[in-house]
Formats: sequence, C-alpha cells, structure tokens
Amino acid sequence: MAVVLKRLTHDLYESATSLLVAPEQLKFTGTVADALAGIDEACHPHGIWLDRSMVGFFIVDTQFDHEFDFCEAGSLGIRTFLIDGQRQGQGLGKTAVKALRPYLTGAYPASAMIWLTVNCKNLAAYRCYEQGGFTDTGDLYLGGAAGPQHVMRQALTH
Ligand SMILES: CC(C)(COP(=O)(O)OP(=O)(O)OC[C@H]1O[C@@H](n2cnc3c(N)ncnc32)[C@H](O)[C@@H]1OP(=O)(O)O)[C@@H](O)C(=O)NCCC(=O)NCCS
Repeated sequence: MAVVLKRLTHDLYESATSLLVAPEQLKFTGTVADALAGIDEACHPHGIWLDRSMVGFFIVDTQFDHEFDFCEAGSLGIRTFLIDGQRQGQGLGKTAVKALRPYLTGAYPASAMIWLTVNCKNLAAYRCYEQGGFTDTGDLYLGGAAGPQHVMRQALTH
C-alpha cells in the first residue's frame, strides 16, 4: 500500500475538514477544522492520500521548540496526526508514519529531528509511531489537557 504525503494548499482545507475521528478520539487530536483555525504560518497542514482519496491529516510545526523545551530550535514537530475514522485499522496510520521520514527529509532539508507527543492512553497511536520508526525518549510531557504524554522522536537522515 502506497500513501502520498503532501502539503495542503488553501483550496484543500475545506475537504480536509471532512476527515473525522470517533468522538472518543477527539480528546487526543481535536478536529481538523479546529486545528486549521488555530495555526500560524509556522505550521504546515498536510494531507495523507491513498490513490485519489484524502484519508488522513497532520501538521508539520516548524517551531515546535517554541512550545516544547525538550527539543532544539530547527526541529520539526508533528501535530494532529489522524486517519479518518472510516479508514482506521487498515494499516494506513503505520504506512503514513513510515513515509514521514523520507518525505520530511526531502521537504525540510534544514531539520535534523522530528518530535511528537502522544497521550499515554492512546495505544493505537503509540504503536503506530513506534512501528513507523519513532523512539520513545522515556520522558513524559505533563502539560497536555488529556493527561501525560510520551515524548517520541526520530532522526532525519540527510
Ligand atoms: C492513531 C491512528 C492514526 C492509527 O491509524 P490506523 O490507520 O488506524 O492505524 P493502523 O491500522 O496502521 O494500526 C497501527 C497499529 O495500531 C494498532 N491499533 C489500532 N487500533 C488500536 C486500538 N484501538 N488499540 C490498540 N492498538 C490499536 C494496530 O493493531 C496496529 O498495530 P499492529 O500492526 O501491531 O497490529 C488512528 O487511530 C487515529 O487517527 N486516531 C485518532 C487520532 C489520534 O489519536 N491521533 C494521534 C494523536 S498523537
């Protein structure tokens, strides 16, 4: 299964808002609409495509260090990573996470590391990130509204 990761142009923002997760998953990511409403130019929304369908979404935050002091300036952060509820459980999340490193290495040549935080109760996402090449740093981020989060990272190879 091949997925394509691509930065969203503004004209695709609206179709991205039709990507929905289950109500009980909202505490982990919120909605795409909220995420798009809350970003500035440092945050780059992306779509995950399978064939011609947009099946998922994530944001590349180029100023992750402004919020999280565990990472150095110039690091990339992944936010609001999600697969549409109707397409979950088919391996798409894992495949998309595996595609992050080659994509980000090419698209952000000045960055050496990708970071993310994942809620300790979010087993599906944790497994997805781990199998997709991220390493748990062992640190916990305690500032999240829905409880402690694991801090994970992956080096980019240039
Ligand atoms: C997390 C998410 C992206 C995973 O996407 P997905 O396409 O369903 O994941 P995959 O089908 O690739 O499965 C990845 C792994 O998670 C496991 N998994 C899936 N759902 C699970 C669940 N409810 N509980 C535990 N493990 C689960 C799968 O078994 C698989 O592991 P395996 O290969 O060892 O079997 C998706 O569930 C999602 O969008 N969740 C809501 C938003 C969210 O929480 N995002 C993360 C924010 S940090």
